[in-house]
Amino acid sequence: MVDGLELRRWAIGDRDDLVEAWADPEVRRWTTVPDDVDSDAAARWIAGEERRREAGLALDLVGVAVNDGRLLGEVGLSTFDVQRGAARIGWWVAASERGRGVATSMVRVLTAWAHAGPLALRAVVAEVDPANPASAAVARAAGFKLLSSGPEAPMATDAAPRRFVFASVRPDSEPVTGIEDPVVRASEDLISEDRPDA
Ligand SMILES: CC(C)(COP(=O)(O)OP(=O)(O)OC[C@H]1O[C@@H](n2cnc3c(N)ncnc32)[C@H](O)[C@@H]1OP(=O)(O)O)[C@@H](O)C(=O)NCCC(=O)NCCS
Repeated sequence: MVDGLELRRWAIGDRDDLVEAWADPEVRRWTTVPDDVDSDAAARWIAGEERRREAGLALDLVGVAVNDGRLLGEVGLSTFDVQRGAARIGWWVAASERGRGVATSMVRVLTAWAHAGPLALRAVVAEVDPANPASAAVARAAGFKLLSSGPEAPMATDAAPRRFVFASVRPDSEPVTGIEDPVVRASEDLISEDRPDA
């Protein structure tokens, strides 16, 4: 775990960091980046965070260094499946901050809060492209278990490319079935005003 990391909401002052991340080839390759990636687009995306959270669509947070406040990366929940008590988690780390446990710490902190906090999620699911071993290592390092992969995984198609599905299941939970494909469900009561801290 990285010492001195905390998660907080996006703020308009993070705009330049977001522009930089959207320009990073690794972030562009492995995460969904909007078509518009300039400063105005970043400001609009940040301004939309509250609406996405209150609509139950996503909870996007940044990891920052406690000592100087610099932005280390992003971690977020989305694709909330209210019936199963599941959601997807995604992440990226600023290029200059990689290789020292930032992603692992952010994922651990948000996952622990998602299980034990007001969301009380039974399962947090991470989808990783098999060609992205760094991210698979993050999922494993954060305690996620591989649900499906390799030859037994469904054949990839254009509509459903092959991916590794990892999950963190709440220790006291019954087995959760069908979480490989959580359904997008907006739910205002799933997203709390509380925020996790490292
Ligand atoms: C993947 C990414 C998040 C890793 O962030 P990070 O802070 O450097 O990761 P950590 O330092 O927490 O490392 C966690 C594990 O990943 C491994 N790892 C990190 N970078 C790696 C790399 N390039 N290749 C192989 N393994 C790597 C670490 O060795 C560590 O494994 P260990 O616990 O077995 O020692 C970062 O490279 C990134 O932002 N990539 C672009 C965006 C992305 O891929 N997002 C995920 C989409 S699913």
